[in-house]
Amino acid sequence: MTTSALAVVVLAAGQGTRMKSERPKVLHELSGVPLIGHVLSTATALEPDHIVVVLRHQKDLVQPVVEDFAPSALCVEQDDIPGTGRALEVALMALPDSFSGDVVVVSGDVPLLDSDTLRVVLDHHRETKANATLVTTVLEDPFGYGRVFRAEDGSVAKVVEEAGLTEGEKDILEVNAGTYVFDRHAVSEALARVSTENNQGEKYLTDVAEQIAARGQVVHAVRVDDSWLLQGINDRAQLGDLQTLLNRMIVRGWQKEGVTFHDPGSCVIELGVQLAPDVEILPGVQLRGDTRVDSGAVIGPDSTLLDTVVGAGARVVRTHAEGADIKAGASVGPFSYLRPGSVVGEDGTVGAFVEIKNSVLHRGAKVPHLSYIGDAEIGEGTNIGAGSITANYDGVTKHRTVVGAHARTGSHTVFVAPVTVGDGAYSAAGAVIRRDVPPGALAVNVSSQRNLEGWVEANREGTPAATAAKAANSGTKATRK
Ligand code: UD1
Ligand code: CA
Repeated sequence: MTTSALAVVVLAAGQGTRMKSERPKVLHELSGVPLIGHVLSTATALEPDHIVVVLRHQKDLVQPVVEDFAPSALCVEQDDIPGTGRALEVALMALPDSFSGDVVVVSGDVPLLDSDTLRVVLDHHRETKANATLVTTVLEDPFGYGRVFRAEDGSVAKVVEEAGLTEGEKDILEVNAGTYVFDRHAVSEALARVSTENNQGEKYLTDVAEQIAARGQVVHAVRVDDSWLLQGINDRAQLGDLQTLLNRMIVRGWQKEGVTFHDPGSCVIELGVQLAPDVEILPGVQLRGDTRVDSGAVIGPDSTLLDTVVGAGARVVRTHAEGADIKAGASVGPFSYLRPGSVVGEDGTVGAFVEIKNSVLHRGAKVPHLSYIGDAEIGEGTNIGAGSITANYDGVTKHRTVVGAHARTGSHTVFVAPVTVGDGAYSAAGAVIRRDVPPGALAVNVSSQRNLEGWVEANREGTPAATAAKAANSGTKATRK
Protein backbone atom coordinates (compact mmCIF):
# COMPACT_ATOMS: atom_id res chain seq x y z
CA MET A 1 0.00 0.00 0.00
CA THR A 2 1.29 3.45 -0.83
CA THR A 3 1.35 5.90 2.00
CA SER A 4 1.19 9.42 0.74
CA ALA A 5 1.26 12.60 2.75
CA LEU A 6 -1.72 13.22 5.01
CA ALA A 7 -3.61 16.30 6.07
CA VAL A 8 -6.55 16.39 8.48
CA VAL A 9 -9.06 19.20 8.12
CA VAL A 10 -11.40 19.94 11.03
CA LEU A 11 -14.53 21.88 10.13
CA ALA A 12 -15.53 24.12 13.01
CA ALA A 13 -16.63 27.42 11.51
CA GLY A 14 -20.37 26.86 11.78
CA GLN A 15 -22.56 28.90 14.05
CA GLY A 16 -24.11 26.04 15.97
CA THR A 17 -27.46 27.84 15.95
CA ARG A 18 -29.37 24.79 17.15
CA MET A 19 -27.44 24.78 20.45
CA LYS A 20 -29.08 28.14 21.34
CA SER A 21 -25.92 29.08 23.21
CA GLU A 22 -23.65 32.04 23.80
CA ARG A 23 -20.83 29.54 23.80
CA PRO A 24 -19.49 28.23 20.48
CA LYS A 25 -20.86 24.73 19.88
CA VAL A 26 -17.45 23.07 19.64
CA LEU A 27 -16.52 24.38 23.10
CA HIS A 28 -19.41 22.60 24.80
CA GLU A 29 -17.96 19.78 26.87
CA LEU A 30 -18.45 16.06 26.73
CA SER A 31 -17.03 14.20 29.75
CA GLY A 32 -14.94 17.23 30.64
CA VAL A 33 -13.36 17.75 27.22
CA PRO A 34 -14.63 20.31 24.68
CA LEU A 35 -16.05 18.75 21.52
CA ILE A 36 -13.21 20.15 19.45
CA GLY A 37 -10.73 18.67 21.92
CA HIS A 38 -12.09 15.17 21.29
CA VAL A 39 -11.81 15.71 17.54
CA LEU A 40 -8.30 17.18 17.71
CA SER A 41 -7.04 14.28 19.85
CA THR A 42 -8.32 11.90 17.19
CA ALA A 43 -6.76 13.99 14.43
CA THR A 44 -3.42 14.06 16.23
CA ALA A 45 -3.47 10.28 16.73
CA LEU A 46 -3.37 9.86 12.94
CA GLU A 47 0.03 11.59 12.97
CA PRO A 48 -0.76 13.69 9.90
CA ASP A 49 1.68 16.06 8.23
CA HIS A 50 -0.82 18.91 8.60
CA ILE A 51 -3.85 19.69 10.74
CA VAL A 52 -5.95 22.58 9.49
CA VAL A 53 -8.87 23.85 11.57
CA VAL A 54 -11.46 26.05 9.89
CA LEU A 55 -12.93 28.65 12.21
CA ARG A 56 -15.14 31.68 11.90
CA HIS A 57 -17.95 31.92 14.43
CA GLN A 58 -16.45 33.14 17.77
CA LYS A 59 -12.99 32.35 16.43
CA ASP A 60 -11.26 34.22 19.26
CA LEU A 61 -12.77 31.84 21.80
CA VAL A 62 -12.16 28.65 19.84
CA GLN A 63 -8.61 29.26 18.59
CA PRO A 64 -6.90 29.16 22.04
CA VAL A 65 -8.59 25.82 22.75
CA VAL A 66 -7.37 24.48 19.42
CA GLU A 67 -3.85 25.59 20.33
CA ASP A 68 -4.16 23.75 23.66
CA PHE A 69 -5.11 20.44 22.14
CA ALA A 70 -3.11 20.59 18.91
CA PRO A 71 -0.33 23.17 19.13
CA SER A 72 0.87 22.44 15.61
CA ALA A 73 -2.56 22.89 14.01
CA LEU A 74 -3.07 25.73 11.58
CA CYS A 75 -6.23 27.77 12.18
CA VAL A 76 -7.77 29.41 9.11
CA GLU A 77 -10.79 31.65 8.90
CA GLN A 78 -13.70 30.92 6.61
CA ASP A 79 -14.89 33.89 4.56
CA ASP A 80 -18.42 35.13 3.92
CA ILE A 81 -19.39 32.19 1.75
CA PRO A 82 -21.22 29.74 4.01
CA GLY A 83 -21.23 25.97 3.95
CA THR A 84 -19.06 22.96 4.69
CA GLY A 85 -17.81 22.91 1.08
CA ARG A 86 -16.50 26.43 1.38
CA ALA A 87 -14.92 25.56 4.72
CA LEU A 88 -12.90 22.77 3.11
CA GLU A 89 -11.99 25.00 0.19
CA VAL A 90 -10.52 27.58 2.58
CA ALA A 91 -8.58 24.84 4.38
CA LEU A 92 -7.17 23.47 1.12
CA MET A 93 -5.92 26.93 0.16
CA ALA A 94 -3.90 26.99 3.37
CA LEU A 95 -2.07 23.76 2.55
CA PRO A 96 1.28 24.12 0.80
CA ASP A 97 0.95 23.97 -3.00
CA SER A 98 3.35 21.05 -3.01
CA PHE A 99 0.99 18.95 -0.88
CA SER A 100 -0.69 16.36 -3.03
CA GLY A 101 -1.65 13.66 -0.56
CA ASP A 102 -4.82 12.53 1.15
CA VAL A 103 -7.09 14.88 3.00
CA VAL A 104 -9.15 13.51 5.88
CA VAL A 105 -12.09 15.78 6.70
CA VAL A 106 -13.81 15.59 10.08
CA SER A 107 -16.43 17.74 11.76
CA GLY A 108 -15.76 19.57 14.97
CA ASP A 109 -19.15 18.41 16.23
CA VAL A 110 -18.67 14.62 15.86
CA PRO A 111 -16.69 13.90 19.03
CA LEU A 112 -16.66 10.13 19.45
CA LEU A 113 -15.20 9.19 16.10
CA ASP A 114 -11.94 7.44 16.96
CA SER A 115 -8.63 7.19 15.15
CA ASP A 116 -8.93 3.41 14.67
CA THR A 117 -12.10 3.89 12.64
CA LEU A 118 -10.50 6.70 10.66
CA ARG A 119 -7.49 4.49 9.94
CA VAL A 120 -9.77 1.81 8.49
CA VAL A 121 -11.39 4.41 6.23
CA LEU A 122 -8.04 5.86 5.20
CA ASP A 123 -6.59 2.42 4.45
CA HIS A 124 -9.65 1.55 2.39
CA HIS A 125 -9.33 4.81 0.48
CA ARG A 126 -5.68 4.15 -0.27
CA GLU A 127 -6.16 0.49 -1.20
CA THR A 128 -8.98 1.21 -3.63
CA LYS A 129 -7.22 4.30 -4.97
CA ALA A 130 -10.51 6.15 -4.71
CA ASN A 131 -10.77 9.89 -5.29
CA ALA A 132 -13.21 10.27 -2.48
CA THR A 133 -14.30 7.97 0.33
CA LEU A 134 -17.06 8.91 2.63
CA VAL A 135 -18.10 7.34 5.90
CA THR A 136 -21.70 6.27 6.24
CA THR A 137 -23.84 4.54 8.78
CA VAL A 138 -27.39 3.34 9.01
CA LEU A 139 -29.64 5.11 11.47
CA GLU A 140 -33.11 4.19 12.65
CA ASP A 141 -33.91 7.88 12.70
CA PRO A 142 -31.89 9.54 9.94
CA PHE A 143 -33.64 12.91 10.26
CA GLY A 144 -31.32 15.85 9.75
CA TYR A 145 -28.49 13.91 8.16
CA GLY A 146 -27.50 13.91 4.49
CA ARG A 147 -28.72 10.70 2.79
CA VAL A 148 -26.41 8.55 0.71
CA PHE A 149 -27.57 7.55 -2.77
CA ARG A 150 -25.74 4.49 -4.06
CA ALA A 151 -25.15 3.74 -7.74
CA GLU A 152 -25.79 0.23 -9.07
CA ASP A 153 -22.15 -0.74 -8.63
CA GLY A 154 -22.35 0.21 -4.95
CA SER A 155 -20.34 3.41 -5.30
CA VAL A 156 -21.83 6.70 -4.14
CA ALA A 157 -23.85 8.60 -6.71
CA LYS A 158 -24.73 11.59 -4.56
CA VAL A 159 -25.52 12.86 -1.08
CA VAL A 160 -28.66 14.88 -0.53
CA GLU A 161 -29.28 17.02 2.54
CA GLU A 162 -32.52 16.66 4.52
CA ALA A 163 -33.98 19.86 3.11
CA GLY A 164 -33.45 18.68 -0.45
CA LEU A 165 -35.12 15.27 -0.08
CA THR A 166 -38.44 14.28 -1.59
CA GLU A 167 -40.91 12.44 0.68
CA GLY A 168 -39.91 8.97 -0.51
CA GLU A 169 -36.19 9.71 -0.28
CA LYS A 170 -36.55 10.51 3.41
CA ASP A 171 -36.88 6.76 3.99
CA ILE A 172 -33.24 6.21 3.03
CA LEU A 173 -31.58 5.18 6.27
CA GLU A 174 -27.94 5.29 5.19
CA VAL A 175 -26.55 8.66 6.18
CA ASN A 176 -23.43 10.66 5.50
CA ALA A 177 -21.36 10.86 8.69
CA GLY A 178 -19.63 14.06 7.63
CA THR A 179 -16.24 12.33 7.64
CA TYR A 180 -14.35 11.93 4.38
CA VAL A 181 -11.04 11.09 2.77
CA PHE A 182 -10.27 12.95 -0.46
CA ASP A 183 -7.51 13.16 -2.94
CA ARG A 184 -6.50 16.78 -2.63
CA HIS A 185 -6.63 17.61 -6.32
CA ALA A 186 -9.85 15.72 -7.04
CA VAL A 187 -11.71 17.49 -4.25
CA SER A 188 -10.33 20.94 -5.15
CA GLU A 189 -11.57 20.53 -8.71
CA ALA A 190 -14.93 19.24 -7.58
CA LEU A 191 -15.40 22.06 -5.06
CA ALA A 192 -14.76 24.62 -7.78
CA ARG A 193 -17.84 23.28 -9.54
CA VAL A 194 -20.13 23.25 -6.48
CA SER A 195 -22.50 26.19 -6.27
CA THR A 196 -24.47 27.73 -3.43
CA GLU A 197 -27.74 27.25 -5.27
CA ASN A 198 -29.79 25.31 -2.74
CA ASN A 199 -32.43 26.22 -0.20
CA GLN A 200 -29.82 27.17 2.43
CA GLY A 201 -27.68 29.23 0.03
CA GLU A 202 -24.64 27.27 1.24
CA LYS A 203 -21.78 25.58 -0.54
CA TYR A 204 -22.35 21.99 0.55
CA LEU A 205 -19.33 19.73 0.83
CA THR A 206 -21.69 16.85 0.20
CA ASP A 207 -22.23 18.07 -3.35
CA VAL A 208 -18.67 17.10 -4.30
CA ALA A 209 -19.74 13.44 -4.34
CA GLU A 210 -22.04 14.04 -7.30
CA GLN A 211 -19.43 16.23 -9.00
CA ILE A 212 -16.71 13.60 -8.67
CA ALA A 213 -19.02 10.78 -9.77
CA ALA A 214 -20.13 12.86 -12.78
CA ARG A 215 -16.55 12.89 -14.00
CA GLY A 216 -16.48 9.11 -13.99
CA GLN A 217 -14.30 9.01 -10.90
CA VAL A 218 -15.20 6.66 -8.10
CA VAL A 219 -16.65 7.80 -4.80
CA HIS A 220 -16.47 5.02 -2.25
CA ALA A 221 -18.30 4.69 1.01
CA VAL A 222 -17.19 2.82 4.10
CA ARG A 223 -20.17 1.84 6.20
CA VAL A 224 -19.53 1.85 9.94
CA ASP A 225 -21.82 -0.38 12.01
CA ASP A 226 -21.28 1.35 15.36
CA SER A 227 -23.37 4.37 14.45
CA TRP A 228 -22.91 5.97 17.88
CA LEU A 229 -19.30 6.67 16.88
CA LEU A 230 -20.53 8.98 14.17
CA GLN A 231 -23.26 10.80 16.04
CA GLY A 232 -23.09 14.52 15.46
CA ILE A 233 -24.01 17.11 18.05
CA ASN A 234 -26.32 19.80 16.78
CA ASP A 235 -28.45 20.47 19.85
CA ARG A 236 -28.52 19.95 23.61
CA ALA A 237 -30.53 16.76 23.40
CA GLN A 238 -27.85 15.13 21.26
CA LEU A 239 -25.19 16.49 23.60
CA GLY A 240 -26.98 14.97 26.60
CA ASP A 241 -27.52 11.60 24.91
CA LEU A 242 -23.88 11.33 23.92
CA GLN A 243 -22.77 12.40 27.40
CA THR A 244 -24.78 9.56 28.92
CA LEU A 245 -23.38 7.11 26.40
CA LEU A 246 -19.75 8.17 26.79
CA ASN A 247 -20.02 8.21 30.58
CA ARG A 248 -21.37 4.68 30.54
CA MET A 249 -18.39 3.62 28.45
CA ILE A 250 -15.91 5.37 30.74
CA VAL A 251 -17.44 3.68 33.79
CA ARG A 252 -17.39 0.34 31.99
CA GLY A 253 -13.72 0.85 31.20
CA TRP A 254 -12.87 1.44 34.88
CA GLN A 255 -14.95 -1.51 36.00
CA LYS A 256 -12.79 -3.67 33.78
CA GLU A 257 -9.74 -2.17 35.49
CA GLY A 258 -10.98 -3.28 38.91
CA VAL A 259 -13.00 -0.32 40.16
CA THR A 260 -16.30 -0.98 41.98
CA PHE A 261 -19.26 1.30 41.30
CA HIS A 262 -22.16 0.76 43.68
CA ASP A 263 -24.57 2.66 41.42
CA PRO A 264 -22.85 3.32 38.08
CA GLY A 265 -25.74 5.28 36.62
CA SER A 266 -25.52 7.93 39.32
CA CYS A 267 -21.80 8.62 38.82
CA VAL A 268 -20.07 10.89 36.34
CA ILE A 269 -16.43 10.18 35.54
CA GLU A 270 -14.67 12.55 33.16
CA LEU A 271 -12.15 11.42 30.59
CA GLY A 272 -9.05 12.80 32.32
CA VAL A 273 -9.69 10.90 35.58
CA GLN A 274 -7.39 8.06 36.67
CA LEU A 275 -8.56 5.32 39.04
CA ALA A 276 -6.54 2.48 40.57
CA PRO A 277 -7.80 -1.07 41.06
CA ASP A 278 -9.90 -1.63 44.20
CA VAL A 279 -11.13 1.93 44.32
CA GLU A 280 -14.76 1.95 45.45
CA ILE A 281 -17.18 4.56 44.19
CA LEU A 282 -20.44 4.98 46.09
CA PRO A 283 -23.61 6.49 44.58
CA GLY A 284 -23.75 10.12 43.49
CA VAL A 285 -20.06 10.71 42.82
CA GLN A 286 -18.64 13.04 40.18
CA LEU A 287 -14.93 12.79 39.44
CA ARG A 288 -13.80 15.58 37.16
CA GLY A 289 -10.74 17.07 35.48
CA ASP A 290 -7.42 15.48 36.39
CA THR A 291 -8.69 13.73 39.50
CA ARG A 292 -6.65 10.66 40.52
CA VAL A 293 -7.69 8.09 43.09
CA ASP A 294 -5.31 5.47 44.44
CA SER A 295 -6.12 1.89 45.38
CA GLY A 296 -8.46 1.05 48.21
CA ALA A 297 -9.80 4.58 48.53
CA VAL A 298 -13.56 4.86 48.96
CA ILE A 299 -15.32 7.90 47.52
CA GLY A 300 -18.87 8.92 48.24
CA PRO A 301 -21.70 8.89 48.52
CA ASP A 302 -22.50 12.28 46.99
CA SER A 303 -19.08 13.78 46.42
CA THR A 304 -17.62 15.96 43.67
CA LEU A 305 -13.86 15.97 43.20
CA LEU A 306 -12.26 18.25 40.61
CA ASP A 307 -8.51 18.06 39.86
CA THR A 308 -8.07 16.31 43.19
CA VAL A 309 -5.65 13.56 44.23
CA VAL A 310 -6.81 10.91 46.69
CA GLY A 311 -4.22 8.60 48.23
CA ALA A 312 -4.49 4.88 48.89
CA GLY A 313 -7.08 3.83 51.42
CA ALA A 314 -8.42 7.34 52.00
CA ARG A 315 -12.11 7.85 52.75
CA VAL A 316 -14.03 10.77 51.25
CA VAL A 317 -17.70 11.18 52.22
CA ARG A 318 -20.15 13.84 50.95
CA THR A 319 -17.37 16.21 50.04
CA HIS A 320 -16.77 18.95 47.50
CA ALA A 321 -13.07 19.25 46.62
CA GLU A 322 -11.25 21.27 43.98
CA GLY A 323 -7.50 21.17 43.46
CA ALA A 324 -6.99 19.28 46.72
CA ASP A 325 -4.49 16.61 47.71
CA ILE A 326 -5.87 14.03 50.13
CA LYS A 327 -3.04 11.78 51.26
CA ALA A 328 -3.20 8.05 51.94
CA GLY A 329 -5.36 6.90 54.81
CA ALA A 330 -6.91 10.33 55.38
CA SER A 331 -10.57 10.76 56.22
CA VAL A 332 -12.59 13.63 54.76
CA GLY A 333 -16.23 14.46 55.34
CA PRO A 334 -19.11 14.26 55.63
CA PHE A 335 -19.91 17.79 54.43
CA SER A 336 -16.36 19.03 53.91
CA TYR A 337 -15.27 21.67 51.42
CA LEU A 338 -11.67 21.49 50.20
CA ARG A 339 -10.61 24.43 48.06
CA PRO A 340 -7.53 24.73 45.84
CA GLY A 341 -4.22 24.15 47.57
CA SER A 342 -5.65 22.04 50.40
CA VAL A 343 -3.43 19.18 51.48
CA VAL A 344 -4.86 16.70 53.97
CA GLY A 345 -1.91 14.78 55.43
CA GLU A 346 -1.53 11.04 55.63
CA ASP A 347 -4.02 9.57 58.11
CA GLY A 348 -5.30 13.10 58.76
CA THR A 349 -8.91 14.07 59.34
CA VAL A 350 -11.12 16.81 57.98
CA GLY A 351 -14.56 16.44 59.47
CA ALA A 352 -18.08 17.75 59.23
CA PHE A 353 -18.69 21.33 58.12
CA VAL A 354 -15.02 22.14 57.69
CA GLU A 355 -13.70 24.38 54.90
CA ILE A 356 -10.00 24.26 54.02
CA LYS A 357 -8.27 26.59 51.55
CA ASN A 358 -4.64 26.82 50.49
CA SER A 359 -3.48 25.04 53.62
CA VAL A 360 -1.25 22.10 54.41
CA LEU A 361 -2.29 19.70 57.13
CA HIS A 362 0.67 17.50 57.93
CA ARG A 363 0.51 13.78 58.72
CA GLY A 364 -2.15 12.88 61.25
CA ALA A 365 -3.35 16.48 61.74
CA LYS A 366 -7.07 16.79 62.47
CA VAL A 367 -9.64 19.48 61.90
CA PRO A 368 -12.66 17.47 62.96
CA HIS A 369 -15.59 19.89 63.28
CA LEU A 370 -17.09 23.18 62.06
CA SER A 371 -13.94 25.10 61.15
CA TYR A 372 -12.42 27.35 58.51
CA ILE A 373 -8.71 26.89 57.88
CA GLY A 374 -7.30 29.19 55.20
CA ASP A 375 -3.68 30.01 54.25
CA ALA A 376 -2.38 27.86 57.09
CA GLU A 377 0.03 25.13 57.93
CA ILE A 378 -1.02 22.66 60.61
CA GLY A 379 1.75 20.49 62.03
CA GLU A 380 1.92 16.73 62.36
CA GLY A 381 -0.47 15.20 64.88
CA THR A 382 -2.04 18.53 65.81
CA ASN A 383 -5.72 18.71 66.73
CA ILE A 384 -7.67 21.87 65.97
CA GLY A 385 -10.62 22.30 68.31
CA ALA A 386 -14.20 22.41 67.07
CA GLY A 387 -15.38 25.69 65.60
CA SER A 388 -11.94 27.20 65.02
CA ILE A 389 -11.28 29.89 62.46
CA THR A 390 -8.20 31.33 60.82
CA ALA A 391 -8.85 35.05 60.45
CA ASN A 392 -6.61 35.15 57.40
CA TYR A 393 -7.90 38.26 55.67
CA ASP A 394 -7.44 41.79 56.99
CA GLY A 395 -9.68 43.24 54.31
CA VAL A 396 -6.76 43.88 51.97
CA THR A 397 -4.21 41.08 52.25
CA LYS A 398 -4.27 37.39 53.14
CA HIS A 399 -1.93 36.27 55.94
CA ARG A 400 -0.63 32.88 57.06
CA THR A 401 -1.23 30.92 60.21
CA VAL A 402 1.35 28.35 61.26
CA VAL A 403 0.57 25.81 63.96
CA GLY A 404 3.36 23.45 64.99
CA ALA A 405 3.31 19.71 65.60
CA HIS A 406 1.18 17.95 68.24
CA ALA A 407 -0.52 21.16 69.34
CA ARG A 408 -4.00 21.06 70.94
CA THR A 409 -6.02 24.14 70.29
CA GLY A 410 -9.24 24.69 72.20
CA SER A 411 -12.72 24.86 70.74
CA HIS A 412 -13.58 28.12 69.06
CA THR A 413 -10.03 29.38 68.79
CA VAL A 414 -9.58 32.30 66.39
CA PHE A 415 -6.10 32.53 64.84
CA VAL A 416 -5.62 36.17 63.82
CA ALA A 417 -3.04 35.85 61.04
CA PRO A 418 -0.17 36.33 60.62
CA VAL A 419 0.45 34.25 63.71
CA THR A 420 2.52 31.24 64.75
CA VAL A 421 1.69 28.65 67.39
CA GLY A 422 4.63 26.52 68.53
CA ASP A 423 4.97 22.74 68.76
CA GLY A 424 3.01 21.15 71.56
CA ALA A 425 1.25 24.41 72.47
CA TYR A 426 -2.34 24.58 73.73
CA SER A 427 -4.98 27.26 73.52
CA ALA A 428 -7.96 27.68 75.80
CA ALA A 429 -11.52 27.42 74.50
CA GLY A 430 -12.55 30.67 72.86
CA ALA A 431 -9.00 32.02 72.66
CA VAL A 432 -8.33 34.75 70.14
CA ILE A 433 -4.67 34.24 69.20
CA ARG A 434 -3.27 37.62 68.17
CA ARG A 435 0.34 37.05 69.24
CA ASP A 436 2.66 34.11 68.64
CA VAL A 437 2.40 31.26 71.14
CA PRO A 438 5.74 29.67 72.12
CA PRO A 439 6.13 25.86 72.08
CA GLY A 440 4.42 24.17 74.99
CA ALA A 441 2.60 27.29 76.23
CA LEU A 442 -1.11 27.52 76.97
CA ALA A 443 -2.62 30.62 75.38
CA VAL A 444 -5.53 32.07 77.35
CA ASN A 445 -7.05 35.45 76.70
CA VAL A 446 -10.72 35.07 77.52
CA SER A 447 -11.78 37.41 80.35
CA SER A 448 -12.77 35.64 83.53
CA GLN A 449 -16.41 34.68 83.97
CA ARG A 450 -18.78 36.48 86.37
CA ASN A 451 -22.04 34.80 87.50
CA LEU A 452 -24.76 37.23 88.55
CA GLU A 453 -26.71 34.97 90.92
CA GLY A 454 -30.52 35.20 90.72
CA TRP A 455 -30.43 37.44 87.63
CA VAL A 456 -32.98 35.44 85.63
CA GLU A 457 -35.57 35.22 88.40
CA ALA A 458 -35.19 38.93 89.04
CA ASN A 459 -35.27 40.10 85.44
CA ARG A 460 -37.26 37.47 83.54
CA GLU A 461 -40.06 36.71 85.91
CA GLY A 462 -42.70 34.31 84.60
CA THR A 463 -40.59 32.87 81.78
CA PRO A 464 -39.92 29.12 81.59
CA ALA A 465 -36.28 29.91 82.34
CA ALA A 466 -37.18 31.75 85.53
CA THR A 467 -39.52 28.95 86.61
CA ALA A 468 -36.86 26.32 85.98
CA ALA A 469 -34.25 28.36 87.84
CA LYS A 470 -36.58 28.85 90.79
CA ALA A 471 -37.37 25.12 90.95
CA ALA A 472 -33.69 24.19 90.74
CA ASN A 473 -32.76 26.64 93.44
CA SER A 474 -35.55 25.45 95.75
CA GLY A 475 -34.55 21.84 95.22
CA THR A 476 -37.71 20.72 93.31
CA LYS A 477 -37.66 19.66 89.66
CA ALA A 478 -39.14 21.95 87.04
CA THR A 479 -42.22 20.41 85.41
CA ARG A 480 -42.13 20.10 81.69
CA LYS A 481 -44.87 21.86 79.84
C1 UD1 B 1 -23.42 17.78 7.86
C2 UD1 B 1 -23.52 17.21 6.45
C3 UD1 B 1 -24.53 16.07 6.43
C4 UD1 B 1 -24.09 15.01 7.43
C5 UD1 B 1 -23.89 15.62 8.82
C6 UD1 B 1 -23.23 14.60 9.72
C7 UD1 B 1 -23.12 19.05 4.87
C8 UD1 B 1 -23.73 20.01 3.95
N1 UD1 B 1 -23.96 18.25 5.53
O1 UD1 B 1 -24.70 18.30 8.20
O2 UD1 B 1 -24.60 15.49 5.15
O3 UD1 B 1 -25.09 14.00 7.49
O4 UD1 B 1 -23.00 16.76 8.76
O5 UD1 B 1 -23.03 15.08 11.02
O6 UD1 B 1 -21.91 19.00 4.98
N2 UD1 B 1 -19.11 24.16 9.26
C9 UD1 B 1 -18.12 25.02 8.80
N3 UD1 B 1 -18.48 26.05 7.98
C10 UD1 B 1 -19.77 26.23 7.57
C11 UD1 B 1 -20.77 25.35 8.03
C12 UD1 B 1 -20.40 24.31 8.86
O7 UD1 B 1 -16.95 24.90 9.15
O8 UD1 B 1 -20.01 27.18 6.81
C13 UD1 B 1 -18.73 23.09 10.19
C14 UD1 B 1 -19.53 23.12 11.47
O9 UD1 B 1 -18.89 23.92 12.44
C15 UD1 B 1 -19.60 21.66 11.85
C16 UD1 B 1 -19.49 20.93 10.53
O10 UD1 B 1 -18.98 21.86 9.60
O11 UD1 B 1 -18.51 21.29 12.68
C17 UD1 B 1 -20.85 20.40 10.07
O12 UD1 B 1 -21.76 21.47 9.97
P1 UD1 B 1 -23.27 21.34 10.43
O13 UD1 B 1 -23.93 22.63 10.18
O14 UD1 B 1 -23.35 20.76 11.78
O15 UD1 B 1 -23.77 20.28 9.35
P2 UD1 B 1 -24.96 19.24 9.50
O16 UD1 B 1 -26.24 19.92 9.27
O17 UD1 B 1 -24.81 18.45 10.72
CA1 CA C 1 -23.55 18.64 12.54
